[in-house]
Amino acid sequence: MTAEQKTWSQRFEKALHPAIERFNASIGFDIELIEYDITGSVAHAKMLAKTGIISAEEGERLAAGLEQIRQEYREGNFTPGTDAEDVHFAVERRLTEIVGDAGKKLHTARSRNDQVGADTRLYLRDQINQIREQLREFQEVLLNLAETHVETLIPGYTHLQRAQPVSLAHHLLAYFEMAQRDWERLGDVFKRVDISPLGCGALAGTTFPIDRHYTAELLGFAGVYANSLDGVSDRDFAIEFLGAASLIMAHLSRLSEEVILWASQEFGFVTLTDSCATGSSIMPQKKNPDVPELVRGKSGRVFGHLQALLVLVKGLPLAYNKDLQEDKEALFDTVKTVRACLEAMTILLREGIEFRTVRLAEAVAEDFSNATDVADYLAAKGVPFREAYNLVGKVVKTCLAAGKLLKDLSLEEWKALHPAFEGDIYEAIAPRRVVAARNSYGGTGFERVRTAIESARSRMSL
Ligand code: ARG
Repeated sequence: MTAEQKTWSQRFEKALHPAIERFNASIGFDIELIEYDITGSVAHAKMLAKTGIISAEEGERLAAGLEQIRQEYREGNFTPGTDAEDVHFAVERRLTEIVGDAGKKLHTARSRNDQVGADTRLYLRDQINQIREQLREFQEVLLNLAETHVETLIPGYTHLQRAQPVSLAHHLLAYFEMAQRDWERLGDVFKRVDISPLGCGALAGTTFPIDRHYTAELLGFAGVYANSLDGVSDRDFAIEFLGAASLIMAHLSRLSEEVILWASQEFGFVTLTDSCATGSSIMPQKKNPDVPELVRGKSGRVFGHLQALLVLVKGLPLAYNKDLQEDKEALFDTVKTVRACLEAMTILLREGIEFRTVRLAEAVAEDFSNATDVADYLAAKGVPFREAYNLVGKVVKTCLAAGKLLKDLSLEEWKALHPAFEGDIYEAIAPRRVVAARNSYGGTGFERVRTAIESARSRMSL
């Protein structure tokens, strides 16, 4: 494209070096924003007409031309190249081809700086809503799985050492809670995405009698930026979103790590079903947990984008700087990654893993994860807890030396350890009982977990 054809051409005598043109261009990725750009421009055109800055007829022609571009784009007939620089120029240029000179009035009283800010916010609002819906589906699957596994026991760990058995439902509900916070957090981020920068102009506002509240209202924004310099240079909303997205990925990654461990031969707690696992190209016996591994791996990308945007803004003087064009790929990739991971993990939980309940029942019966319950048993009979704790420590040591479990001790052996032990000790240390007894609020007792599932369901419908 020659200098005369460029929108900012008249000040320039020479055409852009082709490599610099490519380097400068964002059309390769910001085309993603095209429908939001059109929607924002339609609102701007309507506002220009309403305030008398352009005529009503011009306003209508601009809006109609913009809608035609939307149509062309949807039909695959609008594919601007790098000479268009960015999506905003591309749309404006095509608009002028369609409606003639009236198209040149569209950019009255605005700048690409407030325009791109509005586009990005419109895009992010939609994406946040969709991610929140996906989180709801993910939570739904967790709840359904929890419902079938209230009385399935699974070893609970601290330091990845067997600690106390828990209800599998309780374990799954922990992820429900994380997802619930993610859902709430995104709702909170939404409030700060939902502010219109339109009308901030390049940086200082405009000399035209615009109506910023009208464009905001047309676009469904809850408010407008109070300060024009802030409005065009603020990317807090994007960083907050990346923070919320990072936490979603951290949660999905933790769950992934567990599924990977559970699917290993060492744990053997789950089997991966064929629809969600893959084989090895050389080892015929293998079934690999690729889905959770990819989710775990992709979390790093999203954390990286968060870091990238923080570094991007930290040294920027007010107001707009071209550096800010770099926010988009980070945002787009984050949105795509989070959405793909949520979808894959939801499918994985729905049909990709089967809990091996027999193996789980064996697992909780073959360790010392009921040791706390022996101490609690004595403490309930008046023995000070620390004393009971020390005594049980000795018992465990003796059992380990003898290759026995606590349940293998005879009543005489128990009584020799402490006279307070009676025949009901066996029941007290049975895994089911150990879990059922932890009925404190937020605990793993079966009754608690059933109530927790109910409350989780009702929180979902809020
Ligand atoms: N493509 C640019 C971006 O994404 C649009 C804003 C350009 N503004 C400017 N003053 N050059 O940030």
